[in-house]
Amino acid sequence: MLNQEEKFEALVIALSEKGYAIMDYFINDDAVAQLVDCLLQHQINGTFKAAGIRKTAEQHLAPKIRGDQIVWLNAETGAVAEQAYLKLITAFQQYLNHTCYTGIIANELHYSCYHNNQFYKRHLDVFKTQTSRAYSIILYLNLNWQSADAGELVLYTKQEPNGIRIAPLAGRLVCFESADFEHEVLATTCQRYSITGWLLR
Ligand code: OGA
Ligand code: MN
Repeated sequence: MLNQEEKFEALVIALSEKGYAIMDYFINDDAVAQLVDCLLQHQINGTFKAAGIRKTAEQHLAPKIRGDQIVWLNAETGAVAEQAYLKLITAFQQYLNHTCYTGIIANELHYSCYHNNQFYKRHLDVFKTQTSRAYSIILYLNLNWQSADAGELVLYTKQEPNGIRIAPLAGRLVCFESADFEHEVLATTCQRYSITGWLLR
């Protein structure tokens, strides 16, 4: 098992070589289970809201583009497990700044939940009016994920124009330069949980 600094270093090396990184066991199954408990509590409390798309005039089209529901993580009022994950991502952001002079100043993270048959069509995480997103960071929370559950992330790269299919396995972290990688979420056949976020310039 890598320690925290070794994980950060492995992520930084992959990011600098390829612009993206995939790491299994970024957090362990116990930490995943605690975040899933918090997520289920948000579902019980009714705090999940349908995710939007950036063009406000076209909000009614959002369900045809993305079907997930989200809850933002809060550094002040969040549960212990949520604050711990925010701290971990902030530590990674500081590591990136020290090693790569990336100039990240903040982060934002939300839970994302896709129900049966929901997806997020191919897209880029930055928009003409939204250039502060430097890195996208997705952590998957699906304990016992099976291939029939589907809902893979497809990451389109120059080397793999047909995309790399990434299963949303519990504890797996995917990180990429937000401006450079189009990606999509294939339709899921069961509830698909993750925490998606961005490091902001
Ligand atoms: C997003 C996104 C990918 C995933 O929320 O912008 O692309 O695998 N998520 O959940
Ligand atoms: Mn995205």
